[in-house]
Amino acid sequence: MITVEKLTKVYGNGDSAVTVLDNLDFSVQQAEIFAVVGPSGAGKSTLAQCVNLLERPTSGSVIVNGENLSQLTEAQLRAARRRIGTVFQSDGLFSRRTAAENISLPLDYLGVTRADAKKRVGELLERVGLSSHAKHYPHQLSGGQRQRVGIARALALKPTVLLADEATSGLDPASTASITALLKELRTDLGLSILFITHEMETVLQVADSVARLDNGHIVESGRVVDLLRDASSPLGRDLNPAKPALPAAPDETTWFVSYTSAHVPSDWVTRLGEALSSPVSLLGASIETIEGAVVGHAQVGLRAANAEAVIRQAQKLGLDARPAAAHDLASTTVAAPAGQKEPVA
Ligand SMILES: Nc1ncnc2c1ncn2[C@@H]1O[C@H](COP(=O)(O)OP(=O)(O)OP(=O)(O)O)[C@@H](O)[C@H]1O
Ligand SMILES: [Mg+2]
Repeated sequence: MITVEKLTKVYGNGDSAVTVLDNLDFSVQQAEIFAVVGPSGAGKSTLAQCVNLLERPTSGSVIVNGENLSQLTEAQLRAARRRIGTVFQSDGLFSRRTAAENISLPLDYLGVTRADAKKRVGELLERVGLSSHAKHYPHQLSGGQRQRVGIARALALKPTVLLADEATSGLDPASTASITALLKELRTDLGLSILFITHEMETVLQVADSVARLDNGHIVESGRVVDLLRDASSPLGRDLNPAKPALPAAPDETTWFVSYTSAHVPSDWVTRLGEALSSPVSLLGASIETIEGAVVGHAQVGLRAANAEAVIRQAQKLGLDARPAAAHDLASTTVAAPAGQKEPVA
């Protein structure tokens, strides 16, 4: 588990002092993937460096498994760092060493016997799905495979905590998906606390249990991913699953924006809403995801002139939040309806 309390990092001093992290508080539970998102320069990498104490915080504390890292001596700190695995965007592999030799490095430094190191490297290669690539050099591996070797190396000393700073940035979607699947497996099987830093919202949706948005050194919003997605008023929830292009409503219809706010929305809610309103509901667009076994997301629907309060009330009964679509729900998302789209099906 990682607990960050009142963490502040200031670079420089006097007139040139810049507060890069300002009083951050959050924790990452055991067996949890906690994502930190934010624009370039927000302070994400500085946070990662403070958590593995490559950078000393200016004030505040970082507690890993009950041990306050900022109070440790250099020697204690070196030992504590072994319990924290780190993966970066650039895999940092040695080009003249094979995958197996790269993974073995932290074990070699610690003076683990050859036989023990070989056994552990074998387990790690299997863990990351690269047993058949043990003797490949980095240039003989794909970007995703190199990142897997980096993850295996980060796990060599059996850490309880894994830091990933832009570990999937720059990978193609298939490699990203395979890395996020691996991280989720490691979270569940090994009970790792994973701090996953990224600027890619889509990746957060794939991998994270919880997420915080860092902006200008402040956490501006945070929560469990599923809760944020179910909160129709959450800007972070909206950014995690933005509205996709939708069809325009027919001339006699108004577009409504409908969000799933409950875990129990019936899958035939469109029909049921139409029945409850005694008026058809046109589905114009939707963006639906399954997270933690329940559906989350939103849809744009076209409704004939109906009592707005009745729409909101009937939607609520189905576990949905409904509101007339605002400009920001539709701006730049509406696509032209193909000719004949509204023609009744013969
Ligand atoms: N050693 C340093 N000395 C002074 N300023 C620094 C130092 N390291 C980082 N900064 C500043 O701290 C701010 C945050 O940098 P950081 O690398 O943490 O951002 P980031 O969120 O990781 O950005 P990116 O998405 O581009 O990786 C930047 O304004 C940067 O210039
Ligand atoms: Mg960074």
